Amino acid sequence: MRVGVLTGGGDCPGLNAVIRGIVRKGVPEYGFSFVGFRDGWRGPLEAVTMPLDIPAVRGLLPRGGTMLGSSRTNPFAIEGGVEKIKHNLQNLGVDALIAIGGEDTLGVATKLHELGVNVVGVPKTIDNDLSGTDYTFGFDTAVNIATEAIDRLHTTAESHHRVLIVEVMGRHAGWIALHSGMAGGANIILIPEIPFDIDQVCQYVEARFRLHYAPIIVVSEGAKPKQGDEVLHSEGTDAFGHVRLGGVGTYLAQEIEARTGKEARATVLGHVQRGGTPTARDRWLATRFGLHAIDAVAAGRWGTMAALRGADVVTVPLAEATKELKVVDPALYAEAEVFFG
Ligand code: F6P
Repeated sequence: MRVGVLTGGGDCPGLNAVIRGIVRKGVPEYGFSFVGFRDGWRGPLEAVTMPLDIPAVRGLLPRGGTMLGSSRTNPFAIEGGVEKIKHNLQNLGVDALIAIGGEDTLGVATKLHELGVNVVGVPKTIDNDLSGTDYTFGFDTAVNIATEAIDRLHTTAESHHRVLIVEVMGRHAGWIALHSGMAGGANIILIPEIPFDIDQVCQYVEARFRLHYAPIIVVSEGAKPKQGDEVLHSEGTDAFGHVRLGGVGTYLAQEIEARTGKEARATVLGHVQRGGTPTARDRWLATRFGLHAIDAVAAGRWGTMAALRGADVVTVPLAEATKELKVVDPALYAEAEVFFG
């Protein structure tokens, strides 16, 4: 069998480890050959390929990013996109596709499977917001990077008696903010799932200063005030209709300064959370996802996705992973509230 592999959407640490796992098992154990599709769905759409064999995946395990490149191309937003993909797969002699991606890439995979393409998925996203799996790889690395940043900000915040705000990624779900905020001892955590009350935030800030500490606020980029909308970086949307977020940290700093008179500054971690080498846990999870994805291909379990359930990697229907986002349970958020203020 000839298997195509692609990585789509925002990159994340561990993508290369998945690709390596797929190829390192697929070649010797199943006798498969592989073709790498470049830049997400653009690869099969425009027949842009690269060689993918055992020598090509050497040294990949600790490397961030994706050797295949990525994009947010949506074949369903392009006239005749699906037909082009089917035609190109046939022309290239590709019998099956492994799509490694988040809600958008796997959403396309789900629909293509329904249209008769042999697809298996692998869940990735630093946001950890995919249903069907306990965790996605990339998340642990992002949380560790954010936690290290919070640790560092504590000491400088104390020295200058400032409010320091850390804006982390998380478009619809506050998993990175919640985990890094708890691990880093943040005094306030704000997430997209629970709109924040700016007066309450200011009360926490003042309470913290009364204890002679400086407050650290961790905010997801998608968090929004009770009275208002999420803060947009710019107008316009990508091929999947997502707006570009960014700026809630600066918004909070301005509001806090105006309301409390305390100096407040924002640090935006941005793509630092997505770059560089994966943690050991992400390498482990990504590798196992790769091994199980190629098993699913060998078994013809089309329309499924590798998923972590407890300590086991299993396969679940792709549709289960893409039907709704996995957001933070209010009860989990309430646990962190003990430390607010
Ligand atoms: O979906 C992962 C993610 O990192 C989000 O947290 C973030 O909103 C988005 O991607 C940013 O995407 P881009 O790098 O395309 O601006």
